[in-house]
Amino acid sequence: MTAKELREKYIRFFISKNHTQISGRSLIPENDPTVLFTTAGMHPLVPFLLGEPHPAGSRLVNYQKCIRTGDIEEVGDPSHLTFFEMLGNWSLGDYFKQEAIAMSFEFLTSSQWLGLDKNKLSVTVFEGDAEVPRDDEAAEIWTSLGIPEERIYFLPRTDNWWSTGSGRGPCGPDTEMFIDTGKEQCGTECRPGCSCGKYFEIWNDVFMQYNQKDDGAYEPLSRKCVDTGMGLERTITMLNGKKSVYETELFTPIIQCLEEISGVAYGLNADQDQSIRVISDHIKTSTFILGDERGVTPSNVGQGYILRRLIRRAVRHGRKLGIETNFLARVAEIVLEMYQEAHPVIIQKRDIVLQELKREEDKFFETLKKGEHEFEKLMPNLLKNPKKQMPGRLAFRLYDTYGFPIELTEELASEHGMTVDREGFEEAFKKHQELSKKGSEQSFKGGLADHSDMTTALHTATHLLHKALRMVLGEHVEQKGSNITSERLRFDFTHHDKMTPEQIVKVEEIVNEQIKRDLPVSMKIMKLEDAQKAGAMALFGEKYEENVKVYSVGDFSREVCGGPHVEHTGELGIFKITKEQSSSAGVRRIRAVLS
Ligand code: ALA
Repeated sequence: MTAKELREKYIRFFISKNHTQISGRSLIPENDPTVLFTTAGMHPLVPFLLGEPHPAGSRLVNYQKCIRTGDIEEVGDPSHLTFFEMLGNWSLGDYFKQEAIAMSFEFLTSSQWLGLDKNKLSVTVFEGDAEVPRDDEAAEIWTSLGIPEERIYFLPRTDNWWSTGSGRGPCGPDTEMFIDTGKEQCGTECRPGCSCGKYFEIWNDVFMQYNQKDDGAYEPLSRKCVDTGMGLERTITMLNGKKSVYETELFTPIIQCLEEISGVAYGLNADQDQSIRVISDHIKTSTFILGDERGVTPSNVGQGYILRRLIRRAVRHGRKLGIETNFLARVAEIVLEMYQEAHPVIIQKRDIVLQELKREEDKFFETLKKGEHEFEKLMPNLLKNPKKQMPGRLAFRLYDTYGFPIELTEELASEHGMTVDREGFEEAFKKHQELSKKGSEQSFKGGLADHSDMTTALHTATHLLHKALRMVLGEHVEQKGSNITSERLRFDFTHHDKMTPEQIVKVEEIVNEQIKRDLPVSMKIMKLEDAQKAGAMALFGEKYEENVKVYSVGDFSREVCGGPHVEHTGELGIFKITKEQSSSAGVRRIRAVLS
């Protein structure tokens, strides 16, 4: 059966049961800031489930385009999709459990409709909890239709309760329908919902009885409703005896196009297959987002950000397949053709879809080029590191400053026989997120509160600069001030004359030499007196506690300082003085950057 036939059959069946077909809505929810995308057919119907009369009556049916992006990084296995279509029927205060289940059963098993073997049907119902009782009524209805008890599973709220993504609004217990694929059970715990794939979920009937309010409390709905959702892709997969959605006509033309572009055949290599699946899914979803009636374009916020992530992830996997040129628009053309009849709006938006895909793709190529360039610059130093491991903080800097994806850093590193400290990366990432969350504290960027990666690196560079200045200009050089932002360091020091170009070059050379030596940075807490005896530079006139932290950069410099600093100077990249000027009488000011 084709997707077109299934859509038509579903609609026809419910029209025969006195439902009215309504059109699917935009992927971008109207008046609902709590979710980014329409995640189910019921989404645009929320006001009507809550009591508003619907102009088309109390029995409705449609197919709705949906996007779920909970975990984009998970997509790529044989079953996850970000875009899918949901076939749905609704009762707005009209029929309830008995009729809803009976109609689902008839559509699934009647030879006039899907004709599935009822012996392969397993169902789940809500087991009940402190707030809502066990749904014996639904179980009894299934029994009366001939589903034996051993194929009726009572499951908790995590499985058999439906509410919208925000957790607020209309909700209730549900009953889900699964087809047994004939595989062996994976263990004694195996049941519908198990990830082993024995049971294939195709349909969900929700009995909307409650409205969950903002304070979390449930109030009964003014009228009981039914909301059902059948996954089009999953059902087509199962009806055609396929193992994966990617083997159905909803994906094969896209995969074929990708095979042609990349010269890689699907089905031969697990990694390449995964990339092909990711690209197929992501280009389809991106095409639908761009080609939506309320279409959005790539950006750094909201739906635009998800779109950007999808596009960039597709490009990245394209490169894994060896695709070096623009290819997104060519694949999108296939998607447009496949869906123009069921979702005509995308074809009206054809030009925007193709144009925006190419624009974002070009932008990302630029990012990748820059990131690769930065990576190559870091390599000579990193290769000296005996662990042959790139510090996570450095990988994070590439990500943070150049938008360079960690997976690409790992790929490039492995080409050089190196690994990346992924844990360190995650840690830096988490630290960064925590800092961003603090919001207002961001205004202290570069100050003591800012431990972001670049500023940490610039702190260490300041120590190297301080020492190098003393070596080139003389011991009279003393720090008069230091100011660091995430872009640059600024260092004021005592010296009367303008530095000559040769002196500037010499200072840069000394600093870069220490970076190349990949010196370890260590910290010791000691008495100020001992620190000074040990030759640590300290700020003249500064009030210190009795015990101070002394940072040593290898054998090169030793300074009393609060930190933080990098662990090895190899992490710093390349040091460059961008400006040397007068600050006040007898004080010079240097600005410098790391790249
Ligand atoms: N709204 C229900 C679901 O998406 C039908 O599963």
